[in-house]
Amino acid sequence: MTASLPDAPWWASAVVYQIYPRSFADSDGDGIGDLRGIAGRLDHLELLGVDVIWLSPVYPSPQDDAGYDISDYQGIDPIFGSLADFDALLADVHTRGMKLVMDLVVNHTSDEHPWFIESRSSHDNPKRDWYWWRPPRAHMEPGAPGAEPTNWGSSFSGPAWDLDERTGEYYLHLFSRKQPDLNWENPEVRAAIYSMMRWWLDRGVDGFRMDVINFISKAANADGSLPDGIVRNGALFGNGRPHYVCGPRIHEFLQEMHREVFAERPEMPLTVGEMPGVTVDEAVLFTDPARGEVDMVFQFEHVDLDRGVDWWDVHPLRLTDLKASFGRWQAGLADLGWNSLYWDNHDQPRVVSRFGDDGEFRERSATMLATVLHLHRGTPYVYQGEELAMTNAHFERIDQYRDIESVNHYAEALAHGQADEGSLLEALRAVSRDNARTQVQWDATENAGFTTGEPWIAVNPNYPQINAAEQHDNPSSVFYYYRSLITLRHAEPAVALGDFTMLMPDDEAVYAFLRSHGQTELLVLGNFSPEPHPVLISDAAAWTGAQLVLCNIDGGAVTGASSLPELQPWEARVYRRQVG
Ligand code: NOJ
Repeated sequence: MTASLPDAPWWASAVVYQIYPRSFADSDGDGIGDLRGIAGRLDHLELLGVDVIWLSPVYPSPQDDAGYDISDYQGIDPIFGSLADFDALLADVHTRGMKLVMDLVVNHTSDEHPWFIESRSSHDNPKRDWYWWRPPRAHMEPGAPGAEPTNWGSSFSGPAWDLDERTGEYYLHLFSRKQPDLNWENPEVRAAIYSMMRWWLDRGVDGFRMDVINFISKAANADGSLPDGIVRNGALFGNGRPHYVCGPRIHEFLQEMHREVFAERPEMPLTVGEMPGVTVDEAVLFTDPARGEVDMVFQFEHVDLDRGVDWWDVHPLRLTDLKASFGRWQAGLADLGWNSLYWDNHDQPRVVSRFGDDGEFRERSATMLATVLHLHRGTPYVYQGEELAMTNAHFERIDQYRDIESVNHYAEALAHGQADEGSLLEALRAVSRDNARTQVQWDATENAGFTTGEPWIAVNPNYPQINAAEQHDNPSSVFYYYRSLITLRHAEPAVALGDFTMLMPDDEAVYAFLRSHGQTELLVLGNFSPEPHPVLISDAAAWTGAQLVLCNIDGGAVTGASSLPELQPWEARVYRRQVG
């Protein structure tokens, strides 16, 4: 575990590891990962050296959206174990010097949550106003085509409203119809959520990753109605985002949450807000410590750069776009606020398949990508399997997919003639969330050592070659390279705290930047291409004799004097020198 640096919050020098429990490790042979499975694999995380574990949802859930549809905020779903299993895991994590952060999903609940069951029961139920109930569009019959209160589409296809026959009104669900949106305008809702959060903190958890937390404030009209969104050419629905991304009361709500839940806690729980569509300027407001909102946000700009009109429209990344984006975020949050840094999570395809080369240069491109990310200023997040350079699933057929977003999109686009089967499967192969959701590959035994049963989604067939057991035994593996990066962040204040300067912003192959802190300067270089490339920086000569701290070729030579030779395909280097 990291030692905190003076004058910096503990998480500035920390690395977070995300566990997606259903795919991490299965202890009971039902084919789904569970808490005891996680407990059985903590050695892997301790050896890796991460400081914090973020657990994707393990609460009771109908699993419509793989646990992001919660029916009880204060329990554990039996597929994952029990509260006793959770307490045991938490204690073990703490004993090993790590922290544990829960997923907080409070933009919506499951439709099977008792709050929603009550709310839908009648117009005058005391919890009616806990959700967004609205009558049909003026002068239209409930259920008539187009009678939804607004034209918004849901993130998982279809309209964002569902009719409840019993009361003849619609409820809002920005995600699946089984994920009704909570009404944060109602103070009782907020109080119930804060109380639940305190309950987890009192139990010992070390913070929260907050799911789509910048969607909780909706911009209603004065009469309580919600506005329609613009319908882009060829789209089936309007875009509601301008009416709920960073809405009018978002800062007020987060400040209230901070006061009610976090402010009095000397242990400084970690708070990270997942915020699709957040801008740099907004992120400064969210993460300025003086404002008391959240410690850091997950922004999406860099993972949208290889997309066109929508998520399914994939094109190659231009490195200059990536540098411009990261550069702007580094500069924008340099003085106030804090970045979180990620390539992968349970919603994104695997980075080695996406921005690297998951064939010939899999290990080298994965470690180059890791180097570039981890050497930025901010808190890095490692998603399970990323430290092994696990690849996309490369599924061939629609029946191999499990994710509601992928399956619904495929059905809707086919039904409306928006795309043919072949191009839809091709898009899914590149972007489906299931790419990240295949099981962690532990060893070369059947089902990658994940389960003795029937896995809930097909294990990636490349597990005999790519697995943790092989990498634990191999000091030049991707796993040990990640370990070196984490060790470097813990040991070198310039990594955690140094200023950031982008170099070679117009180069389409080499990613280069400086980090400087006191007398120490680091030069970080990454070749994003399968060709050798020169390093064209103005003061290259000044780096002659600098220490090579990290390199992803030949198992990572760690010392030695050198000038700046051409970078080999997908090579990464980090140099250190003392200045002044
Ligand atoms: C973001 C989560 O990361 C994703 O997995 C989920 O489907 C949506 N929010 C809805 O909760």
